[in-house]
Amino acid sequence: MKMESAWIGRRKKGMVIGMEQYIIKGGNPLVGEVAIGGAKNAALGILAGAIMADESVILHNLPDVRDINVLLEAIEGSGAIVERKSRHTVLLNGSTIYNMTVDNSYIKKMRASYYLLGAMLGKYHHAEVSLPGGCNIGSRPIDQHLKGFRAMGATAVVRNGMIVVDTEHLMGAHIYFDMVSVGATINVMLAAVLADGRTVLENCAKEPHVVDVANLLNTMGARIKGAGTDVIRIDGVEKLHGADYSVIPDQIEAGTFMFAAAATRGDVTVKNVIPKHLECLTSKLREIGCEVSEFDDAVRVVSKGRLSHSTIKTLPYPGFPTDMQPQMAVLLALSEGTSTITESIFENRFKYVDELNRMGSDIKVEGNTAIINGIPALMGAQVTAPDLRAGAALVIAGLAADGITTVEDIGYILRGYEDFACKLRSLGGMIEEVESEREIQKFKMSVVG
Ligand code: EPZ
Repeated sequence: MKMESAWIGRRKKGMVIGMEQYIIKGGNPLVGEVAIGGAKNAALGILAGAIMADESVILHNLPDVRDINVLLEAIEGSGAIVERKSRHTVLLNGSTIYNMTVDNSYIKKMRASYYLLGAMLGKYHHAEVSLPGGCNIGSRPIDQHLKGFRAMGATAVVRNGMIVVDTEHLMGAHIYFDMVSVGATINVMLAAVLADGRTVLENCAKEPHVVDVANLLNTMGARIKGAGTDVIRIDGVEKLHGADYSVIPDQIEAGTFMFAAAATRGDVTVKNVIPKHLECLTSKLREIGCEVSEFDDAVRVVSKGRLSHSTIKTLPYPGFPTDMQPQMAVLLALSEGTSTITESIFENRFKYVDELNRMGSDIKVEGNTAIINGIPALMGAQVTAPDLRAGAALVIAGLAADGITTVEDIGYILRGYEDFACKLRSLGGMIEEVESEREIQKFKMSVVG
């Protein structure tokens, strides 16, 4: 990689290890404009797809976040050419790949490493990838991915902590997914692009990132129809060619800033978004009392008084996203009345509740439902991010709370939000990323005055 991302530069200097945390002085309404970066979860599938050609693929609008940079390192480790043209643009060329085993300590910690299985199985008919890690939000099996590969004629086994997929001949197949899975839809689609004959995938995920990966692959010469609907049809082609492609904006990053505006009674215009992808969030914000205006590529959220209660159930797209569930809980914790949130995608996504209750919220979890009795204000406290989106939610809580909040274990947050603290500061949020007791004291002194 010629140019280093901000994160890799810091990691090499040994600065990222240690007590990374955010310190926040709450109470300032967020006001202003913020630009959203490329969608992390689209970009992860797109990076895997890009190495399926033996020509150069230039990708723009890649977020400079840990998960992306770790996957880029793994791709480079396979022998592919990875040239960072600028902070958000990377050239990839898969013609030099010689190593189909992806195994390092970082890749083990991320979920989307499994996309290299689909991509390499399609291109080389063989791949070995460490069993995926990722946020600890539930058991997260990958049986549907493996079911798809097997239906296409591959063997798929787990050996010494590695998933090994292999075939002499990859054939198109008719596959019905037993549940709607973003990862399985993208992974099997990747492999099917270079399989022999037609693949039909049923009960597919319809998330914008599934469509984005399909659009990249089609730009590279694939023949995929129906991405964004329940049924995707893929006619295998012999090879893919180079392309120049830009990743869609991140609807979860956008939603996080929209909800931060709502929680702090602010007025924020979130730019560089596709408002259609945010409709479900926009309508919930309106329902609980925010004003939301939609523009061609921006949304403005204005929140004035106390918000009202609501009922939420997470569902696959276009339903309410599980990735916005913890941020929604912060809004409802501060709303009038009693709300409920039912989590139907991941069984372990309420681990932030104890942390939020340390800040004064009144939330009880019964089974897969959180019952939230709204309170007028949160109080600053020392909390720990249990995963990526819950971490972002605790930051929003800190920005809305009275007093000082510290959020520990922000490594999770840095996996998926680029320049999070910096963007929040540009909106008037008082937040710093600190790594030592000295920096914490310095922040406290600066906010007291
Ligand atoms: C993706 O995870 C996202 N990750 C997650 O984002 C997101 O929360 C999730 O989709 C749902 O939208 C990436 O894109 C890298 P699934 P994924 O397969 O693909 C079950 C974030 O914060 N399932 O759609 O792992 C599974 O257990 C992250 O950015 C199986 O049972 O999610 C879950 O209950 C966290 N077998 C449900 O399906 C399988 O083979 C949906 O999972 C696959 C999934």
